[in-house]
Amino acid sequence: MAYRIAPSVLSANFARLGDEVQQVVAGGADLVHFDVMDNHYVPNLTMGPIVCEAIRPLTTVPIDVHLMVKPVDRIVPDFARAGANIISFHPEASEHVDRTIALIRDSGCKAGLVFNPGTPLDYLDHVIDKLDLVLIMSVNPGFGGQKFIPQALKKLATVRSRIQATGRDIWVEVDGGVKVDNIAEIARAGADTFVAGSAIFGTRDYKATIEAMRAELAKAKKA
Ligand code: DX5
Ligand code: ZN
Repeated sequence: MAYRIAPSVLSANFARLGDEVQQVVAGGADLVHFDVMDNHYVPNLTMGPIVCEAIRPLTTVPIDVHLMVKPVDRIVPDFARAGANIISFHPEASEHVDRTIALIRDSGCKAGLVFNPGTPLDYLDHVIDKLDLVLIMSVNPGFGGQKFIPQALKKLATVRSRIQATGRDIWVEVDGGVKVDNIAEIARAGADTFVAGSAIFGTRDYKATIEAMRAELAKAKKA
């Protein structure tokens, strides 16, 4: 299995966001995770399409947009135009989940569905074949630097087996509280794509931290 590390720029220094993106990419990031919060669906306010557009020319790695906004559909084309490669959304925030997935894919992006710790996986029943990615939240969305909720491990395992049953290559991403010391266990539960904000941007040497995560992932692969 290919593992991907997706640093969340939510924990970057926003006063020099461009440098931070370049540094984390130089350190080996596979994706740039971009957390969009609207002070409505979640109690925090971050960044919109113009910030995505501003960082787009700085890197060729995919920009992984995590929408924590309600409504969802109105902002999707704006992020596609701003250079997003992946757009994920929370099903509770969309009036018509199937329509939103189609909108994302028609705009040329990969589509992901995000599950909060308290959201059942039932939403997958009728749309799993249309998804490119499933994102399991291991914290309640809204803030970086929270503690990993261990119940997410079971959910990851369930999602992984449901995806295997489809025979499709759907990524399983995990978001919240991922660190060097728990990434192997999370990988063993079924995740292949790891969002990490504070665990990377909270350290001095992003490259060293990303390498330490990869070393742990290599262990998980052998186990
Ligand atoms: C939370 C965001 C996360 C967050 C992760 O709502 O979706 O991407 O930035 O931050 P850490 O890795 O610090 O838990
Ligand atoms: Zn996120």
